[in-house]
Amino acid sequence: MAVHPASAFFPVRVRRKTRLAEHIAGFELIPANDTPLPPFTAGAHIDVALPNGLIRQYSLCNPPGQAGAYEIGVLLAPAGRGGSSSAHRDIAEGDVIRIGAPRNHFPLVPAARSLLFAGGIGITPLLSMAWALHRDGADFALHYCVRQQAGAAYLDRLAAAPFASQVRLHVDGEPARRLDVAALLASPPPDTRLYVCGPQGFMNHVIATAREQGWPDDRIHFEYFAAPAREPDTLAGSFEVCVPSRGVTARVPADRSVAQTLLAHGVPVALSCEQGICGSCLMRVLDGEPEHRDVFLSDAEKAANDRFLPCCSRARGARLVVDF
Ligand code: FES
Repeated sequence: MAVHPASAFFPVRVRRKTRLAEHIAGFELIPANDTPLPPFTAGAHIDVALPNGLIRQYSLCNPPGQAGAYEIGVLLAPAGRGGSSSAHRDIAEGDVIRIGAPRNHFPLVPAARSLLFAGGIGITPLLSMAWALHRDGADFALHYCVRQQAGAAYLDRLAAAPFASQVRLHVDGEPARRLDVAALLASPPPDTRLYVCGPQGFMNHVIATAREQGWPDDRIHFEYFAAPAREPDTLAGSFEVCVPSRGVTARVPADRSVAQTLLAHGVPVALSCEQGICGSCLMRVLDGEPEHRDVFLSDAEKAANDRFLPCCSRARGARLVVDF
């Protein structure tokens, strides 16, 4: 049986496109030929090559192990860089699009109990996690936080799910149902893990509250959809980058990324999100000190200074030696 290589894009057919909620479209993707879809684990995402040429990452939200289909939900972001609008506007039922094999940077870790906090469209990976935890007979709760109930996707599915009693909907606009993170995360029980996904403000609030309540960092798991806004640049100067295995030495100007510079010199950097989220472009650091600007590496991984993401990170010094 043929299998799609992990690094290659392959065709899938859009079997169904649905309106899940205001500004949220759901896409069900099935094989476009005889090659089955690779399996995935809860928390995984796929790269989607959009009709306008952009590549974007979307979490799989259906139960892992469900044969033959991937499901994603796409929130229309009018102020975004054009990925979601292309998905909403340019992809129709029956179309064949290209995607990458699932990758998982947000996996479940076995624990006595798991708390899942989803903000808005952040529900997508956590929905898949809820299915996996239910399948495994694990103890968990899913807290789904939305501004208004009308903007919430997947409510019908959650209501019909066998784990419906473990789901709580929190609605910002309704004082009686507003999320009280501090109360829910008070006194972290032993062997309990926290998973957070959603808009940046929501994630910052939940993660900061968890830390205040004494949750250790290694029990807080999260995934960003977009890179957090940066402070005004203090390190936007130019520097030299070397890739010994390719015999390339190049100057990275202030207005170009390391990845753009290397690509211009024929070095094949695997660009995808270009925001430091997905990890596709990861390279080893052989010499010099990177200025990490991604949300992919953990604080400990950044401190080790032996890897960096050339799509967004830069150099603290005059020279950076990197390789594959
Ligand atoms: S391309 Fe996604 S982290 Fe660099």
